[in-house]
Formats: sequence, structure tokens, C-alpha cells
Amino acid sequence: MKSFYITTAIDYVNGSPHLGHAYEKVLTDVIARFRRQMGDQVHFLTGVDEHGQKVQASAKKRGIPPQQFCDEVSAEFRALLPKLNISNDDFIRTTEVRHKKVVQAVLQQLFDKGEIYQAEYRGFYSTRQEQFLQDKDRLPDGSWPEIFGEVTEIVESNYFFKLKQYQAWLVEFYEQNPNFIFPAFRQKQVVEFLKEPLNDLCISRPRERLEWGIELPFDADYVTYVWFDALINYYSAVADLPGVWPATYHVIGKDILVPPHAVYWPIMLHAAGLALPKGIIAHGWWLQRGAKMSKSTGNALNPLDLVEEFGVDAFRYFLIREMNVGQDSDFTREQFLVRYNSELANNLGNLVNRTLNMTTRFAAGVLPAAEVDLRDSANVDELELTVKWEMLRRDLVKMNEGFQFHYALERTMVFLTETNAYIEKRAPWKLGKSTDPKDQSLLRTSLATMAEALRLAVAAMQHIIPSTTEKINAVLGYTPGPKWESELEWGTKLAGCKFAEALVLFPRPAPPEKK
Ligand code: MSP
Repeated sequence: MKSFYITTAIDYVNGSPHLGHAYEKVLTDVIARFRRQMGDQVHFLTGVDEHGQKVQASAKKRGIPPQQFCDEVSAEFRALLPKLNISNDDFIRTTEVRHKKVVQAVLQQLFDKGEIYQAEYRGFYSTRQEQFLQDKDRLPDGSWPEIFGEVTEIVESNYFFKLKQYQAWLVEFYEQNPNFIFPAFRQKQVVEFLKEPLNDLCISRPRERLEWGIELPFDADYVTYVWFDALINYYSAVADLPGVWPATYHVIGKDILVPPHAVYWPIMLHAAGLALPKGIIAHGWWLQRGAKMSKSTGNALNPLDLVEEFGVDAFRYFLIREMNVGQDSDFTREQFLVRYNSELANNLGNLVNRTLNMTTRFAAGVLPAAEVDLRDSANVDELELTVKWEMLRRDLVKMNEGFQFHYALERTMVFLTETNAYIEKRAPWKLGKSTDPKDQSLLRTSLATMAEALRLAVAAMQHIIPSTTEKINAVLGYTPGPKWESELEWGTKLAGCKFAEALVLFPRPAPPEKK
């Protein structure tokens, strides 16, 4: 079995999870489930980033020790996962011993190799971003952009990682791996970034200024700076598991691609003699009225409110259907309702109910086999539908492998629309009234055709709406086989299955409030 190791970014615990965090988990879960369906041995990691100034400050504000603060907020992030039906294999917290141990071992190794040195540092420091700033970060009028919060000048002794000496190596790495970053236009941005000279990376903070961090193994007066601690989580979580490292993909948001994931991380790994991941997937942002959804702007949506109101699969469906991986997307309730009503309730929900209802009425709930005769022009509609499916099936693996999930869903919805149109045309409710054996045969064929089309469309969406898929298969009295790709072949798998009478899947929500 092919090993496939996928990770999400680890979330800062200084606020509650919002829709942006939820999206990244759902997207990564969709990829993980898809790879499992393809037969890979998947390891899926997610977790939380618990150290740093902001967490220390938030804990202080609440008047509790930072560890207690982290325990509380991390529990909230962790509790979100089952509610979103996330199939992660592990959850890492950077305050865990298993993580700290590995971070210290990597630091010590790099220190011993002479890759880390101590030097005086003078610079402008942003507490909010936990980083020293450079002149190029200034606005044209010389002031610092809003996102940096309060900026103060600091002179202190610190430890540095020799990043600069690896710049040429990294440039060459990107030349040789032109598809390392998805989407491709983001890799171009990285290559542009690397045209400017790199600085060595400051990796420490004096303990007197920042207590809440991992102690440097070679100098107890210092703790590690945020990225050196956080990035190593991907490795520390699996350091003891044979055959898992390197990661296949790191899924992250575009804001933490350059420089942390696309520059620091490959160089850190290379310097430590560890294999590089196969790639990085950088998704875009969920916006509200054009602005990035975030805790600090106060425009963040609580994903659990939507899950509670519409169900987990409606939520997952919307996120994946709406967002073209790598682009930004605006979240509006109106758009959510449009997709919910027209695609899930009408298109999918109706097909399920028609199939169950008519099989119950005309075949006592036991699905007959199709009686299609290729030479009979009466059956051209069935054949057309199978050809339409075949065209979709041929592209499905490719679309999913290329992270074109939104497009795969769009095409699947079109197929559902075509299936519903087929039913309108066949009108089994009319055929059922006729005693003509030809009509009766066509009736059996139409029941078999609609049920098979439903089974296939549902299989195509299994990794996106897993619990709905399970419910639908259950009412069809069907247990899918272990090989997903075989489940996508048009056939007679449902013949003889005993169907339930009805299934409420996506109940109509209350109409949107009038403004
Ligand atoms: N702790 C760092 C990541 C360390 S990874 C070694 C961090 N945390 S975060 O909580 O700020 O963000 C976590 C992830 O959520 C990031 O990948 C980020 O891009 C993503 N999102 C945060 N807000 C987002 C949106 N509004 N939309 C989509 N995802 C965004 O950065």
C-alpha cells in the first residue's frame, strides 16, 4: 500500500475556531478520504500551536496559567473535529512532551553542526505577529501596517539559523520541482520572493521576554521562536512511526506559505538531513464582504452554528462546492441557502425520494433488474444516461487527484439533474398504470436506471458528504465494496436490494429573513 501522509496547519489557540479553520480541516479530510478510497495507507494529522507571546498574554488576561489556558482552548479545537466528521488519525499539541523532545533534538543537532549561532540583534519587533520587521515591511510613509499592531525597537542577543547559505539550493530545488506548490501560480510567487537575498532566521527569544516556549537545549536562558517550534510538529508527530515521513502534502492557507512553509521549512528539513514533503497545497481565504474572515476583525463565523442549523454534510458540501482550491471565496448565507435548496434538497433529495417512493409503489420495495434492449429505440434515454455517467466517471479520479473538488461536484450535480430529467421523461408513475407488458418492462428498467444513477452519484461524493452517502446506501439496502473505483462502474449492483420507503435528508430550512 502506498503511504500518504497529510497534515493541516496547526491552529493558534488564542481564539475560538472559525469557518476558515473549519474549511482547512474539511478540505484536508476530503483529500484524506479520497486517498483512502484509492487504496492508500493514509495518515492524517491536525493539531494546535500552543506557544508564544499571544497565548501567554491571553492566559495572563484570564488570570490562569498558560498550560490551563491551552488545555481549555485546545479542547475546543479538538471537539470541533468529530462534529465536522474529520477522519484524522492524530491530533498534536505543541505542548506535548513528544513534540518538545523532537524540537529539542533537531535544534541540538543543528547547533552541533554549526547551523545555529548567537548574535546581537537590533530590530523593530511586532508583538502581534511575533516577528522582527524589516524596512521593506514599512508603508510608503514610513509607518508600520496595521496588521503588525504595536511595533517597538529592541536590541538583544539571540540565536540564528543559517538560512541564507541555503538560498541557492532552494532556488534550484524549485527549478527541479516545478509542481511542488499547488496551485502553480503560488510557486511563481515563491520563486519571485527568492530573487531577494534571504536573511538568517532568528529562532529564539530571551526567556525574560517570552516564557511560554520550548527551551533551547543548548541555552536555558532562551526559548524557541514560533516557526521553529510550530513547523516541526509535522515531523514530531510521526517521528516514532516507521514509514510515515516524509509528508505527502501540507495543507495550509496562503498567508503562511511565504516564507514559513515554502522557505524556512524546506531549508530546515534539508539542513537536518530529513526528506522533504512531496508538496504543499495553499488554499485561499474565506472572506466576508471582501475581508478575510478572522478573529481580530470580528467577522468570523462559528462553523458549529451552521452545522447545527443545516447538518454537517450540508456544511461540508458548501465549503467544497463553493471554493476553488487556491482561490478566495466570499461566504454569504444567501449563497449557502441557494446551494442547500437547489442542489442538496431539490436535486439530490428529490432523486432519493422518488427512487424510494416509486420502487416501494411499483415493485414492493425490491429493485428489479433493468431490461434494456440496445436495439429498442424506446430505451435510448437509458443509454444516453449511461453515456453521460461514463463521461463523468472518466474524469472523476483526475479531478479529485488535481484537487478540483468543486468541479467534480458541479459535474455530479449536472448528472443528478440529467437523472431527474430522465425520470420526468420516463414518467414511471404513468407506466405503472399501464398493463401493457412493454410498459411494465420499461417501468422496471426505469426504476433500475434511476436507482443505479443515484448509487453512482452518491459514490462520487462519498468523500465529501460521507454520512449522507452512508444513509443513502443504508436505505438502498446496499453495502459498497472495498474498491471505490469499482463502485463507479455502471452495473446491476442494486438489483434485488430491498429499499426503505422514505428518507428525510435535507429538510427545507426556514426562508431567509427579510432585511
Ligand atoms: N499557527 C499557525 C500555523 C502553524 S503551521 C506549522 C497559524 N495559525 S492560525 O490559527 O492563524 O491559522 C491556521 C490556518 O487557518 C492557516 O492555514 C490559515 O491560513 C487558516 N485560516 C485562517 N483564517 C482563514 C480564512 N479566513 N479562510 C481560510 N483559511 C484561513 O497560522
